[in-house]
Amino acid sequence: MVVNGSDEAAIAQAVQVLAAGGLVAFATETVYGLGADAASDAAVAGIFSAKGRPSDHPLIVHVPDAASAEAFAADIPPVARKLMDAFWPGPLTLILARRDGMAEAAAGGHATVGLRCPAHPVAHRLLVAAAANDPPVRGVAAPSANRFGRVSPTTAQHVADEFGQELLVLDGGACPVGIESAIVDCTRGAPVLLRPGTLAREKIEAACGQRLRLPEEVDGAAPRASGTLEAHYAPNAKVRMMDARSLQTALNVLGEDAGSIAVYARTVMRSRSARLRRMPDDAVETARQLFSVLRDFDSQGVKLIWVETLPEDDAWEGVRDRLRRAAAS
Ligand code: TXA
Ligand code: MG
Repeated sequence: MVVNGSDEAAIAQAVQVLAAGGLVAFATETVYGLGADAASDAAVAGIFSAKGRPSDHPLIVHVPDAASAEAFAADIPPVARKLMDAFWPGPLTLILARRDGMAEAAAGGHATVGLRCPAHPVAHRLLVAAAANDPPVRGVAAPSANRFGRVSPTTAQHVADEFGQELLVLDGGACPVGIESAIVDCTRGAPVLLRPGTLAREKIEAACGQRLRLPEEVDGAAPRASGTLEAHYAPNAKVRMMDARSLQTALNVLGEDAGSIAVYARTVMRSRSARLRRMPDDAVETARQLFSVLRDFDSQGVKLIWVETLPEDDAWEGVRDRLRRAAAS
C-alpha cells in the first residue's frame, strides 16, 4: 500500500511494522529502499527472500545520523570521519569494520558493514522515529526496492509495481538523485570507490584528502557487491550503446521497421518508427531520470534500447557505470 511519507501517522505505522520484524519500502534521495530492522536476522531474511537476492550479498544499514553509525562500526578511521562530515546526510555509503555481533545477517556474514545516512526527509523521519521507538530500531537494512538484478525504483509506483499492494511504501515523490549512492570502502588502508554515484570522484577525493583507488588496484577479495556485478540494473529490453552517427545510420537503414526500438540520445535523431527520447545534456539530470526512462521503455514493450555513448568526463561516471552494466546482459 502506497502512503504519503510526509504523514506522521504513516511514519508511526512504518515504525510498528519494522519493530515487529516486517518490511517497509521508503523514499531516499537516491532510490527507494526495502527496509527491515538491521538487528533482526529474521527480518533481514525477509528482505533477501522478497528480493530474490543471494543472502551473502551484504545490505546497506541506514542510520539517522553519524553518531548512530558508531553502534554498527567497530572503528571509524579518519578518512571515513572526513567523508561523513562532508557528505552525510547524503548519497554516500561507507564500508567500515563491523562491530562484533551487530547486523551480522544484514552484512551477509562479512566482517564489514555498509553504512549510509540518507538526506531525504521521508527516510530521515523514518530513521529518527525508528531509533526513538521502544524498543529502538537503531538501523534499517535496506537494499534498493527492486527484484534482484533489475532496475532500481525511483518512484513509489515503481515499488508497488514490483511488490504489489501488500508492502507498505512511504511515498516521497520521485527520487531527486535517481541512481544509487556512491560506495567508498574505508577498510583497506586507502579509500576504494566500489560503486560510483553522483558525487564526483574529485569531490570525494578533495574531502578526504586521498586519491580513491579502484577495486582492481586493491589486493584481496572484497565481498561481492551485487551493485558491482557486471550484468545488473537491467531492464527487460536489451540495452546497447552506440555513437550518434552509427545510431542515425542504423535508424535510416531500418526506416519503418524500428517499431520495437527505443533511442535515448543527446543528439537529435530522426526515425520514422523508433521511439525517440532526448537525453539531457547534464549528468545530474540524466541520473535523475535514467531508471524511469528504462522502466517506461519496458512498459511500452520495447525490445531494444539504443543509448548514445556518454561523455567521458567525471560527472558522468555514475551514469556510465549503470548503463554499462545494463548493457552487459
Ligand atoms: O542509494 C543506495 O545505496 C540505495 C538506497 C536504498 O540507500 N541502496 C542500495 O542498496 O543501492 P543495494 O543493496 O541495492 O546496493 C548496496 C550495495 C551492494 O552492491 C552491496 O553489495 C554493497 O552495497 N555493500 C553493502 N555492504 C557492503 C559491505 N560490507 N562490503 C562491500 N559492499 C557492500
Ligand atoms: Mg540494488
